[in-house]
Amino acid sequence: MRMVLMNGEFIPREQAKVDIEDRGYQFGDGIYEVIRVYNGKMFMAKEHLERLSASSEKIGIAISYSISELTTLLEELIAKNSLSTGIIYMQFTRGVSPRNHSYPTEAVTPTFVAYTKMLNRPLDNLENGVSTITVEDIRWSRCDIKSLNLLGNVMAKQKATEADCYESIQYRELSVTEGSSSNIWIVNGEKIQTHEANQFILNGITRQKIIQLCGENGIEVEEKAFSIEDLIDADEVFLSSTTSEVTPIVSVNNVPVKEGKVGEMTKKLQNLFVEAIISECGQISN
Ligand SMILES: Cc1ncc(COP(=O)(O)O)c(C=O)c1O
Repeated sequence: MRMVLMNGEFIPREQAKVDIEDRGYQFGDGIYEVIRVYNGKMFMAKEHLERLSASSEKIGIAISYSISELTTLLEELIAKNSLSTGIIYMQFTRGVSPRNHSYPTEAVTPTFVAYTKMLNRPLDNLENGVSTITVEDIRWSRCDIKSLNLLGNVMAKQKATEADCYESIQYRELSVTEGSSSNIWIVNGEKIQTHEANQFILNGITRQKIIQLCGENGIEVEEKAFSIEDLIDADEVFLSSTTSEVTPIVSVNNVPVKEGKVGEMTKKLQNLFVEAIISECGQISN
């Protein structure tokens, strides 16, 4: 039976119900995380839970669980669902309260939900790369918060789907910000570049891991916004996220990146990333 975690209790999926006056349901008033699971073990759980805690502080939701308590609960959730390769989705909303835009004045308990999903590594995309389109970034200016309000991201992803592409690359004025659910990188020679971690992007956990791995392996990284022209002219382009890892981008707006082949630096980063997974979670099966 599929078990989910709701407000600290493990219950069957069918019994997990949300109140119509939950502020997450009505306002998207909450925050979430997605954590990768390889071999039944969470990858970079501490970093994800620290970002969850930072997001919750930014919007004034008090999470009553410590990071180590959450880790124990999530490990139990993985075990109860016998998850090997997949993800954990988790969210906290501000809780249930009569509809009113401002935060409730009375004490409200946040609603906490977490569940697992089986999800293989995207081997085909990792090997052959994906196509993308560029779209205007119409989102708010606090993209650093991993908020449940994802309408801008959802609309951007839908444009990609309609164009038969895997991802939309968003731009704000002249700068590329990030994908609808990923960070975007360019490679020129031996140097890689991605948007600086400010309020216009989510500071991806995969992004942070790539930067760390580059530091340890003498690869130069510049954290600075680049233009659409830079994107089109780059030697290599790739995206990063928890579910997509380091995925090569082989075309932008139907134009091949270089010859449309996966670049050498992207492959090197993929290898370093897989080594990092193996050293934390053990040998991975697919
Ligand atoms: C908007 C956005 N940017 C970047 C990312 C990548 O973040 P992470 O590497 O933590 O998955 C995501 C992941 O879902 C995202 O939604």
